[in-house]
Amino acid sequence: MPTAQHLSFPAHFLLGSATAAYQIEGAADEDGRGPSIWDTFSHTPGKTWNGDTGDIAADHYHRLDADLDLMASLGLRAYRFSIAWPRIQPTGRGPANSKGLDFYSRLVDGLLDRGITPIATLYHWDLPQVLEDEGGWTNRETAFAFADYARIVGEALGDRVAVWTTLNEPWCSAYLGYGSGAHAPGRTDGAAALTAVHHLNLAHGLAVEQLRAVTTNDPQYSITLNFHVLRGKGEGGEEAVRRIDALANRAFTEPLLRGHYPQDLIEDTAAVTDWAFVEDGDLARIHQPLDLLGVNYYATTTVRLWDGETPRQNNDGHKDMGGSPWPGSPQVEFVAQEGPHTAMGWNIDPDGLEELLLDLHARFPGQPLVITENGAAFEDHLTARADGSHAVHDPERVDYIRRHLAAAHRALTAGVDLRGYFVWSLMDNFEWGYGYSKRFGIVHIDYETQRRTIKDSALWYQELLRKHHAQQPRAASSH
Ligand code: FCB
Repeated sequence: MPTAQHLSFPAHFLLGSATAAYQIEGAADEDGRGPSIWDTFSHTPGKTWNGDTGDIAADHYHRLDADLDLMASLGLRAYRFSIAWPRIQPTGRGPANSKGLDFYSRLVDGLLDRGITPIATLYHWDLPQVLEDEGGWTNRETAFAFADYARIVGEALGDRVAVWTTLNEPWCSAYLGYGSGAHAPGRTDGAAALTAVHHLNLAHGLAVEQLRAVTTNDPQYSITLNFHVLRGKGEGGEEAVRRIDALANRAFTEPLLRGHYPQDLIEDTAAVTDWAFVEDGDLARIHQPLDLLGVNYYATTTVRLWDGETPRQNNDGHKDMGGSPWPGSPQVEFVAQEGPHTAMGWNIDPDGLEELLLDLHARFPGQPLVITENGAAFEDHLTARADGSHAVHDPERVDYIRRHLAAAHRALTAGVDLRGYFVWSLMDNFEWGYGYSKRFGIVHIDYETQRRTIKDSALWYQELLRKHHAQQPRAASSH
């Protein structure tokens, strides 16, 4: 097993792992949890691989204490998790469900007891179904409902959570949820997708306002985006990159960090929408100072302008469910990437991460960054040892993580204000449309028995953490 650990990060650099509520918790209708769009979607035939759902997932809801012990045994001192809105407000509105809040309160206390910093995401895609029935993210009211939810959670946990992330990858929520149909709620309407972009941005701003008003431990505020690192091909490559950069990246960074939507985005999408959903005052509310900008990175994307003749390629890394996640830009073709690839078919390109960090640093000088997700799915094989225990030898995942950490380290050395790295994911889980067919965990889950097996990648990470933490004393529990 590879043990060499040559990377040395600054003492306060956070090295952790990440999960999301619907992907691991299970207990889908327990303790008052209401249905979310992912319950509805995954229970709709044909939407997920094998008809898989998050009903049971990794059963984390029932195994909280054991999973906390597992995190501690791996030497984790930072954990990024998400809170399920439908556990807190089963119908998306109204008073808090105390059992839902209790679960996350126990989680946060359990982390602090073990010296692990809690980093909470308010929305990792599980919108209460009742809100979707009223239009979901195409309905402006959803942004205000989200702000109420943020306030409730902030009042309950705002004395202990160290970092708040409002939204995880609003690109996916908007464009895969409402444009391509690959994610819940599975709508395929370009105008709806752009409307959702704005309401998600607004929801972020409103939620930060609410959190600031109720938290008492001076936490940090953030949002996590999945940046598209784009490479152009051929004559129209530059134009293709500009269009996709506007839809995928600048539709979020410009309002969030500069207080306006890019003019070229508005022009490119003019045939789809007139952007009348942007109301006076919205941009000022969206444009909040961010303590951290969360960066999720897995692979790069290559685009060119389609010649209109050869069969059109659509390799943008997401399931093709018929609709387009690229409203207003049907002329852009997503070209198959050169390998090597992970089990998702995503290309492995650590340099893309370095490039992205340097680029963000150049575009938004002084903006602290954190890598909130990076990791890989591979075909894992559980093997039995002579003593009856199990192992998963996953050298490709070790290599993936090691090389991306090295890329992050290069960016740090070049002056990027990078504050941490979170491996996706702590454990195998429900990989959305791909169900349980893709394993991203550094801990293996046997879905039949719910047995946890530490993969070699987790042992490798444990060694890295051990060395990293040797520089600093364990933080005292603060509750
Ligand atoms: C990201 C999601 C995360 C997981 C990884 C593989 O887009 O935020 O939940 O699915 O991809």
